[in-house]
Amino acid sequence: MSAQIIDGKAVAKAVKQGLKERIARLAEAGVQPGLAAVLVGDDPASHTYVNSKAKACKRLKLYSEIIERPADISQDELTGIVRSLNENPKIHGILVQSPLPGHIDEMAVTMTIDPAKDVDGFHPVNVGLMLLGRPGLLPCTPHGIVKLLDHAGIDPAGKEVVIVGRSNIVGKPLGAMLVQKAKMANATVTIAHSRSANLARITRRADILVAAVGSPEMITSEMVSDGTVVIDVGVNRVDDPGTEKGYRLVGDVAFDTCVEKASYITPVPGGVGPMTIAMLMSNTISAAEAITGHAI
Ligand code: GUN
Repeated sequence: MSAQIIDGKAVAKAVKQGLKERIARLAEAGVQPGLAAVLVGDDPASHTYVNSKAKACKRLKLYSEIIERPADISQDELTGIVRSLNENPKIHGILVQSPLPGHIDEMAVTMTIDPAKDVDGFHPVNVGLMLLGRPGLLPCTPHGIVKLLDHAGIDPAGKEVVIVGRSNIVGKPLGAMLVQKAKMANATVTIAHSRSANLARITRRADILVAAVGSPEMITSEMVSDGTVVIDVGVNRVDDPGTEKGYRLVGDVAFDTCVEKASYITPVPGGVGPMTIAMLMSNTISAAEAITGHAI
């Protein structure tokens, strides 16, 4: 059997299309949602991500700003930038692209962001609301994964979901979202990680397997049972002198072999990645609606 490929680009396009009515309503009220992205240092992948986010804003006619600073920025200067964005009425969403340089206390920066403008959903206030199943800004990648499953007609209720990776950005929040007593949730969730013993035994149990570790093609077909839904969150650059850029992107899943066992699988690129940006747009609009009091 060969898996059905879940087309994240197409689903992201549909999600963004669905936002247009809300953007038009805000425009009628004189509100243009605005997103500020703070980019520190010269990590090429971070530059690519932030430019993609700004491009998505432009296409949807949202306002966006990229604030670039060198890697030797001080903690005080960075938190100062965030504080001024908190006060800026043109800005409804703030994101500080990670990773940040080692001398920066990333959590302290996150905690400086006004929770109402925290479109990444990383502030402890939003993390707490999510854990309690209360309305708030949800983290973009996990929320995008839930949307992808929904569009593919896959309801996690009652299913065994195994998430490999316990990051604060993906693994932990996705587990928290899927375990909720709610629509597109009610799953039995296992979060496996680098210290999990006998990982293959755990991953083979999955009805839905999510790989979010950042390790190229570490999920091999022996770790996947027949008929599993495989969601690949990894975006890894591997050297490939045969390509124009000198590298190619691969996921955390060995796609070519796992595609033969899975029932559904997301590709890299074109799977989860576009959904992260679509959900960021969605959060920016939600934040603008909430801040200006123009929610539909
Ligand atoms: N770095 C990798 N993913 C993300 C993300 O979703 N948001 C931010 N701010 N940084 C990231």
